[in-house]
Amino acid sequence: MKTRTDIQNMVKNNNKIVMISAYDFPSAQQSEAAGADIILVGDSLGMVVLGYHSTVQVTVSDMIHHAKAVKRGAKNTFVAVDMPFMSYHLSLEKSLENAQKIFQETNAQALKVEGYSEQVLQLTKRLTVAGIPVINHLGLTPQTFNVLGGYPVQGRGESGIKLLQHAKELERAGSMAIVLEAIPKQLAQKVTQNLSIPTIGIGAGIHCDGQALVYHDILRYGKHHLPSFAKAYSNFQEVGVNGLTKFVIDVKTNQFPTDEQSFF
Ligand code: KIV
Repeated sequence: MKTRTDIQNMVKNNNKIVMISAYDFPSAQQSEAAGADIILVGDSLGMVVLGYHSTVQVTVSDMIHHAKAVKRGAKNTFVAVDMPFMSYHLSLEKSLENAQKIFQETNAQALKVEGYSEQVLQLTKRLTVAGIPVINHLGLTPQTFNVLGGYPVQGRGESGIKLLQHAKELERAGSMAIVLEAIPKQLAQKVTQNLSIPTIGIGAGIHCDGQALVYHDILRYGKHHLPSFAKAYSNFQEVGVNGLTKFVIDVKTNQFPTDEQSFF
């Protein structure tokens, strides 16, 4: 299994990092078989697996439940787990307790936190010192969509300069990598050039050290909206509905089960 250092060294070797957000046993097995470098148990599971409107409803228990299934399915892949909404905002002590619980119970290799604040900076430092690698997430941070007013592109103009400063501070605090979501590709390039830790882009253009996408978007699994920065490489939804429809028709027309599926 790759370690934090292996992931970081991939940049030096010009080897692009592939991160797939996956949430259960079969999707983890498939992501590992496909050669993903990192499986992120993302809180995006709230939308694509649990059918919530956003990631806001996702709890620490949800993350642990799904991360354990992913670890069982992908024993040889670096697994990172999202700290969900408000699990790292109440106080530093409470955030550390939540991080400890998620990390110990899931046996993951890293935790991911969204955004930049004094507390996120302190948390990144304290977790890294304690032995928990931290992936940070800047740009569009879906947990704050109620404040952002949706999912708009971030980092245009002055706010891009701030984002670069935040990325540098998080690197100094010990961050192992930074996810950059929905920012202009020129800004992502600048951040990537100014950091020695990897950047992993999602909607951040080609210049990042790695790319992330959600399993359900890559395979078009489910009827959710496909973000404009995503690319579908398959159509599981159609394949699935076709297969299930054939089963329904077979049962209704007495074509299932045949003797082949019966006991004698
Ligand atoms: O929750 C998630 O899956 C993520 C990725 C999209 C980066 O944060």
